[in-house]
Amino acid sequence: MFIHTIKEVRNILKEQKRSEKSIGFVPTMGFLHEGHLSLIKKAKEENDYVVVSVFVNPAQFGPNEDFKDYPRDYERDYNLSIGAGADLIFNPSIEEMYPVDNKCEVKVKDLSSGLCGASRPLFFGGIALVVTKLFNIINPTKAYFGQKDAQQLAIIKKLVKDLNFDLEIVACPLIREADGLAMSSRNIYLSKDERKSALRLSQSLFKAQEMIKNGERNPDKIKEFIKQYITEDENCNLDYIEIVDSGNIIGVEEIKDSTLIAVAANVGKTRLIDNILVEV
Ligand code: PAJ
Repeated sequence: MFIHTIKEVRNILKEQKRSEKSIGFVPTMGFLHEGHLSLIKKAKEENDYVVVSVFVNPAQFGPNEDFKDYPRDYERDYNLSIGAGADLIFNPSIEEMYPVDNKCEVKVKDLSSGLCGASRPLFFGGIALVVTKLFNIINPTKAYFGQKDAQQLAIIKKLVKDLNFDLEIVACPLIREADGLAMSSRNIYLSKDERKSALRLSQSLFKAQEMIKNGERNPDKIKEFIKQYITEDENCNLDYIEIVDSGNIIGVEEIKDSTLIAVAANVGKTRLIDNILVEV
């Protein structure tokens, strides 16, 4: 079912809740790939009814970012979602989600200011706002988020805890292309040459993981290595490398199990992010 209004989605879900069906929810901005589909499949395994939202959220894009160009193909998203097990695709208009008189902000302090928040100051406020609204509209039993956006995941977990949302957040592993590139809707922007350069991100992280397996525990040494490896390629313009606790997104002094190593770089004009959770 392809639904565009909040009223309709609420009516349909009321029926599901009346019959005590569990509802799995996967929020997306569409242009779906295997990363998104892995979340939908997991939601289907764990719930009676699965809702996927497809909404390119203007509130999380800065004035000079790619909101207008962000790839959209709603019919394809609908077919892929249904194929992966979704029961309902919620695809609201901007006017439906943001009536002109909205005065609310949702801010998750501290976790939103570093990493991607440093160069994208509006980003996580826009995400926290839209996810809060979507949780209130869908009222899911469980909601599924990818480890690909590790900072977003930490922020949503904190949001749910601090604001007492009655739902469980399920973290799902980062899905990669066969050559290691993290799947992203933005990969479509890359030229053939840039696509090759983009591999610097995942390769630097895999090599860092090797260094850690061999005993390196100093975050500065790992950062220095990653920086050199990525900036060697002239198509890559590094934004950040951070080595943080994956829960509170604060820098660590010593690398441990489950430490998060996160990188962001512009490859040509395309902003890409990648990360690994360290296994010591
Ligand atoms: P979007 O980038 O479309 O991602 C939707 C969900 O898919 C997120 O939970 C993201 O982490 C997950 N995802 C994306 N690529 C992935 C990959 N390669 N492997 C595993 N999971 C992956 O994230 C957003 O949209 C938005 O910020 C949203 C939460 C929908 C709010 O607008």
